[in-house]
Amino acid sequence: MKSATISTGQLAYVDRGAGQPVLLIHGFPLDHTMWDAQIDALVEHARVIAPDLRGFGQSPLGSADSERGISMERYAGDLAELLDAITPTIQEPIVLVGFSMGGYIAWQFVRKFPERLRALVQCDTRAAADSDEARAGRLKMAEKVAEWGSARIAEMMGPKLIAPRSFETKPEVVAAVRAVVERTSPAGIAAAQLGMAARPDMIDFLPQIKVPTLVVVGAEDAISPPIEMQSIAEKISNAKFVIIPESGHMTTMENPHAVTQTLVAFIGSI
Ligand code: MLT
Repeated sequence: MKSATISTGQLAYVDRGAGQPVLLIHGFPLDHTMWDAQIDALVEHARVIAPDLRGFGQSPLGSADSERGISMERYAGDLAELLDAITPTIQEPIVLVGFSMGGYIAWQFVRKFPERLRALVQCDTRAAADSDEARAGRLKMAEKVAEWGSARIAEMMGPKLIAPRSFETKPEVVAAVRAVVERTSPAGIAAAQLGMAARPDMIDFLPQIKVPTLVVVGAEDAISPPIEMQSIAEKISNAKFVIIPESGHMTTMENPHAVTQTLVAFIGSI
């Protein structure tokens, strides 16, 4: 991976291919490797930038407020700085692809930097803020993760991220997700949980999105269910909605071929 210096620290990132820049934002508590299958295919059509957000994968946490963590807006600012910092620098409008927490960050990127956007893809994410119960769960994890360790987080989250059938039939996906979560530092997990707990509700913002948009969800996604993602697509004037079969939340890994084909077709159509 390459590394870029931004105002909040260092970001490790993949930069491969040529042409239309496509920025892939991973989910929580994961890293850019959740996009491995898509990166390999997309580089034939585009310039793919796939960072590890601060505190994940090979990117150090850098400056983070221990009380408030890292806001979704701040991660979005990091990504805009990354586009300016890399060589050759990226000033032309990008295709922004967010997955789950990466989608929460993508909404903030769209809001803050609309001129930097050519098209938007939102995978397995939500526009609503957390319920009080979900927020309390995040704050508890942020408080306890140093004591629990990342392995316990992997145990807790695995069955929510992956569909029951994939859990039985795709042990390699289960093992890969677990390994990434176990490698993630407790401090990175806490910073992101605090940021997600405080994220704003973006539902009223959706009609302001005018760029071509693709909304993708796993048929059995229990975290961001298809019905909720369909209603996101319906609120964006220029949006397509695609359900990925045989997949829970982790579409890019549970049914990588279907996600890749969907992304390639969308990018070819804009
Ligand atoms: C993710 O996959 O990024 C997380 O499930 C998002 C969340 O915790 O809301």
